[in-house]
Amino acid sequence: MTKGLFAFHHKIQWIVIGLGIALVVIIALWGGPAAQAQPEQPLAFSHKKHVDAGTQCVYCHPGVLNGPVAGLPSMAKCMGCHSNVQVSDETDQPDVDTLLSLWDRGLALRWVKINDQPDFVYFSHRPHIQHGVSCESCHGNVGQMDFAQPAFQINMGFCLSCHRQQSPDKFTRLVDCKTCHQ
Ligand code: HEC
Ligand code: HEC
Ligand code: HEC
Ligand code: HEC
Ligand code: HEC
Repeated sequence: MTKGLFAFHHKIQWIVIGLGIALVVIIALWGGPAAQAQPEQPLAFSHKKHVDAGTQCVYCHPGVLNGPVAGLPSMAKCMGCHSNVQVSDETDQPDVDTLLSLWDRGLALRWVKINDQPDFVYFSHRPHIQHGVSCESCHGNVGQMDFAQPAFQINMGFCLSCHRQQSPDKFTRLVDCKTCHQ
């Protein structure tokens, strides 16, 4: 009996270890692409340093308030601060010098897009921001990232999982195919 029980425990132990390994592999495969997705940007721009310095998301991405496109800040907007901001950390100066030299030569930064929906999807920031959906619920905590990267895979399931949680009077409209595929 004891021996049988021991063998049984032994089996369970291996099953548990096996499942553990499988889980690690699954997480590695799953988490892999998102973790590697950090694109090569033309300049090391830290969200964290700018947000910690007190700059609001909407100051740099004003499009979220009135339309589909959040937009990225122009060179002129960067220079609005950097024509007089002094960095406190000297190791940041080379990146700021790159910005200043591009501006002097009349060149612009061309950022690599991180979030991109296919054209057959209709998405607008406006209704979300108007109804108090936070940036973080779709983009994660970008304000604390040194390099902006996607926190979630924003696909149809992701959109629907939140729309399904809205109040019953809105539910039908929010899960209707036409709402997102016009
Ligand atoms: C609202 C003002 C403001 C705007 C707009 C702004 N910055 Fe900054 N930036 C700062 C401040 C403040 C710091 C941090 C200074 C410190 O304490 O070191 C900073 C730091 C930096 C640094 C060094 C730290 C880092 O991010 O690695 C770079 C590079 C930089 N900014 C680039 C840019 C670029 C590019 C833009 C436009 C897309 C921009 N900034 C727009 C205020 C601003
Ligand atoms: C000082 C200006 C500045 C501020 C403040 C700022 N951003 Fe950004 N943001 C940028 C720039 C420049 C880029 C493009 C470079 C990059 O992707 O890192 C960007 C990129 C992004 C992206 C990825 C865009 C894409 O390609 O899909 C997201 C999401 C984002 N910001 C969200 C936020 C949120 C949320 C906040 C507030 C917590 C915020 N940003 C504050 C300047 C800013
Ligand atoms: C309901 C989900 C959701 C919320 C909330 C949200 N975003 Fe987005 N955001 C997206 C999607 C989806 C895209 C990709 C849009 C596309 O490719 O057409 C995007 C794209 C962006 C981009 C890239 C530029 C662009 O417009 O394509 C920036 C910057 C951005 N968001 C910033 C913000 C900021 C700042 C907030 C909060 C004020 C915010 N987002 C809130 C889903 C969201
Ligand atoms: C975290 C929650 C959340 C996520 C994720 C989300 N939404 Fe929404 N969405 C809302 C809320 C809340 C509203 C406003 C509902 C209302 O009118 O009261 C809304 C409204 C909309 C509307 C306007 C509907 C109308 O008829 O007024 C569209 C279009 C939309 N969402 C598309 C999307 C798409 C596409 C995605 C995925 C890329 C997405 N949403 C992800 C919460 C979310
Ligand atoms: C809340 C927004 C939303 C609603 C409602 C919605 N979709 Fe989507 N759908 C998306 C997004 C975002 C994508 C693109 C990302 C992806 O492939 O999942 C998509 C992709 C698709 C695709 C392409 C899938 C692929 O693999 O390329 C089909 C087909 C589709 N939707 C059909 C539908 C149908 C049918 C309905 C109604 C029952 C519906 N959708 C409702 C947001 C939505």
